[in-house]
Amino acid sequence: MNEYLDTNRANWDDRASLHAARASGRGYEVQRYIDDRSLLSDVVRFDRERLGDIAGLSAVHLQCHIGTDTLSLARLGARVTGLDFSSVAIAEARTLVRDSGDEAAVDFVESDVDGALGVLEPASFDLVYTGIGALCWLPRIADWARVVAALLKPGGRLFLREIHPILWSMDETLADDLHLRYSYFERAEPLEWNGESSYVATDRPLTATTTYEWNHGLGEIVTALLAEGLTLTMLVEHDSVPWEALPGQMVQRPDGEYALGALAGVAPLSYTLQAAKPAA
Ligand SMILES: C[S@@+](CC[C@H](N)C(=O)[O-])C[C@H]1O[C@@H](n2cnc3c(N)ncnc32)[C@H](O)[C@@H]1O
Repeated sequence: MNEYLDTNRANWDDRASLHAARASGRGYEVQRYIDDRSLLSDVVRFDRERLGDIAGLSAVHLQCHIGTDTLSLARLGARVTGLDFSSVAIAEARTLVRDSGDEAAVDFVESDVDGALGVLEPASFDLVYTGIGALCWLPRIADWARVVAALLKPGGRLFLREIHPILWSMDETLADDLHLRYSYFERAEPLEWNGESSYVATDRPLTATTTYEWNHGLGEIVTALLAEGLTLTMLVEHDSVPWEALPGQMVQRPDGEYALGALAGVAPLSYTLQAAKPAA
């Protein structure tokens, strides 16, 4: 299992340094967050209404990557801790919030999700925020749900916007049709991938090219949260995702999201889920 984790971490260390590019058209174009101190990431902006008022909340952002969503939550008034297992991502996230002026409201810790309770105080967060390519890196959804429930204060909530498992089960190499190829359900053995490119434009190819990923069905995710005593309060499926997940078959919308073109509406591509921990 650790071999999978170590291989994935090497890939994310490699990607994080490239994703933190500041120039326009490269990586996450992070200079935008420094130049405009009110800018929110597209991902946080997409869900702003569903997120509601988070001013004054104590939040943890699991798998925070280079911190663009984390600082966006802080710009909405939350006090946020970002957690990620990539030391490079955490270093880039710290540099970004220092340079963008968001340092006072944000801090970062380096840990894998399974170890979160070793570095963060249990039952200390009003909000656990995560998603957009987060759950696919975790082998067992039940373990993730246990960590989420343990981090939340009584009365706190999980906010998850994630890629739909039906999209992860599609073969993205076919440019002219949708084709189901991979398991929709969680399996013990991961899928192994090899690729030199990331989901954003980068200055060089990746050098740590292997990854291991796991799918988790929507029912498995909901069931895991219910098993931890959380109450499902929102489940909205969307027809779009934040990047061109099925190249050749998608159109970009004005909000930056990508939806299916000719096959618009035949399947959900992402979802927003909220679940609450009952008040004590
Ligand atoms: C696709 S990114 C999340 C993207 C995030 N929504 C964003 O755009 O900023 C996935 C993140 O998960 C982190 N990650 C992967 N497996 C992890 C694990 N087991 N524990 C903690 N972080 C992990 C990676 O380092 C990476 O930063």
